Amino acid sequence: MTSINPNDIYLKVTDTYRAVALDSSACCGTNNSCCGSDLYDIDLSGAPADAVASSRGCGNPQAIAALLPGNVVLDLGSGGGLDCFLAAERVGPTGRVYGVDMTDEMLTLARRNADAIGVQNVEFRKGLIEQLPIQDSSIDVIISNCVINLSPDKPAAMREAFRVLRTGGRIAMSDVVIDGTLSDLSVDEATIRASLDWSGCIGGALTISDFTHILQQAGFVDIAITVTQHYAPGDLYGLMPATLHEGLSDAERADMGNLIARFASAQITARKPRGGCCS
Ligand SMILES: C[S@@+](CC[C@H](N)C(=O)[O-])C[C@H]1O[C@@H](n2cnc3c(N)ncnc32)[C@H](O)[C@@H]1O
Repeated sequence: MTSINPNDIYLKVTDTYRAVALDSSACCGTNNSCCGSDLYDIDLSGAPADAVASSRGCGNPQAIAALLPGNVVLDLGSGGGLDCFLAAERVGPTGRVYGVDMTDEMLTLARRNADAIGVQNVEFRKGLIEQLPIQDSSIDVIISNCVINLSPDKPAAMREAFRVLRTGGRIAMSDVVIDGTLSDLSVDEATIRASLDWSGCIGGALTISDFTHILQQAGFVDIAITVTQHYAPGDLYGLMPATLHEGLSDAERADMGNLIARFASAQITARKPRGGCCS
């Protein structure tokens, strides 16, 4: 999907989220991609203010995770920890929540936030979602909010998710996806992706069909990817170099409008089969 060097992606993404951890007003995307906590339809007043301020999700995985008391939960790319703290309340003292993130400053912020509210059942671990520091078959539910699109190796991330889930375990994620394809536009896909900001949760977004395929290849069943919100041109122009959207002909502008209309927030759910190949 990309010819961009994976290590360059890790460095760029780490730089972006280091800046967010150190200054929560730093932005990584748009108000509608990964820059806000206004996506939660629940009262966040009990959550640490710094976790809310540094929240950079594109949806609300809690809404689809249906967590139960005693569940063991893993948050991929836990950032300042907001989703982990919300999950910790749901799973209660008999449950446990792990947050994995690769950015040291985010981990420091998340641990400081955890100390501030005295939460006992959350643990933050440093690591890549493509090489999870989590033991096999130990997790009931994996949540994630606007992180898979940032991965330079999404098949590895989904294979790791499958490995750490117990049989019957589930994923419930929010992410930016492409609703359709990028292959029928006048600008080719590689150029579009190279021009969009990867760390702003746009450049690395998967098409729904590629995401579905990657989940199937990893072994997941009951896969559902549901678009919750499409973006508008104004949401994405700020992330593109001006050369890509200024001085365009009418036809090119229409093409660009088509492209932008395909980026969307989505909820992604899937399950690790209980036994045999496909149950
Ligand atoms: C868009 S923010 C989302 C943070 C959090 N989920 C939220 O909703 O606020 C992305 C987070 O994922 C982390 N991240 C990105 N790519 C990662 C990877 N490949 N492995 C581990 N962490 C990653 C970043 O360090 C950052 O904290």
